[in-house]
Amino acid sequence: MKKILVTGALGQIGSELVIKLRDLYGADQIVATDIKKHDDSVIVQAGPFELLDVTDGKTMFELAKKYQVDTIIHLAALLSATAEAKPLVAWNLNMGGLVNALEVARELGSQFFTPSSIGAFGPSTPKDNTPQDTIQRPTTMYGVNKVSGELLCDYYFHKFGVDTRGLRFPGLISYVAAPGGGTTDYAVEIYYEAIKKGRYTSYLGKDTFMDMMYMPDALNAIVALMEADASKLKHRNAFNVTAMSVDPEAMAAAIRMHIPNFRLEYSVDPVRQAIADSWPNSIDATAAREEWGFKTDYDLARMTEDMLVKLREKLAQTVSL
Ligand code: SER
Repeated sequence: MKKILVTGALGQIGSELVIKLRDLYGADQIVATDIKKHDDSVIVQAGPFELLDVTDGKTMFELAKKYQVDTIIHLAALLSATAEAKPLVAWNLNMGGLVNALEVARELGSQFFTPSSIGAFGPSTPKDNTPQDTIQRPTTMYGVNKVSGELLCDYYFHKFGVDTRGLRFPGLISYVAAPGGGTTDYAVEIYYEAIKKGRYTSYLGKDTFMDMMYMPDALNAIVALMEADASKLKHRNAFNVTAMSVDPEAMAAAIRMHIPNFRLEYSVDPVRQAIADSWPNSIDATAAREEWGFKTDYDLARMTEDMLVKLREKLAQTVSL
């Protein structure tokens, strides 16, 4: 990774990954792209930024060629709940964008990363300690996109020799960019509401366990996988990674260590509950640990402490503006 093009750079992962990559490899080496442009964003101001609709493969190729990129990190996609509400839009964006990005990587010989998800599993997948290699018959459009994407990335590796690599991310938690349209979003919203109101109404019910990870660990995992020795990789698309398996009660208990009167209530959204119920309770990340040294720094307690401190600072700044 020396010159990297990032799609979806203003999204949930991109907003922080671009900053990390610019720190590691140099600001001019990271070409951030997104379908929208926020002129006041540090991503737009602190290095190359280009407008890009990922369904426009020609422009994507021209930009990648112009900047002579050797790596493509393709993040632009719709998350699960939005994809379920607009399945055809999701198919066209998630799959159309991916195949365009893979084609650019093939033509330029670039290394390639795109995230998969716990959404790539379905109701017939073993729910606990879900293995790396197992049944993948998801029942959501997002999951169909993710499994198809994993297969397509493996195909580009075997057929064309494109160095494709991917991670099956769990719910990602951060105080920087809000996710939007995902099933795991409650695990971010709960912190905002805990600080603002001292209570939160969860759209997922009690005992809904899913894997989560703090964003700094997710960013480290992307860099570690992309820097990993290719000869050590038995898998490629995509590795199970996780830091914790939690339900709303566990999150509330962690928050109460800092905000003792925090109240958790429930008003279950059947659509997102059905999606969550079709996903694993906990996944097994042994392959990632063994093949490229995956590790995390944050468990639920440590993440909660950091989230509350950083979010309080952020919300105080917003209020004082
Ligand atoms: N966070 C994603 C979602 O909820 C899962 O990959 O859609």
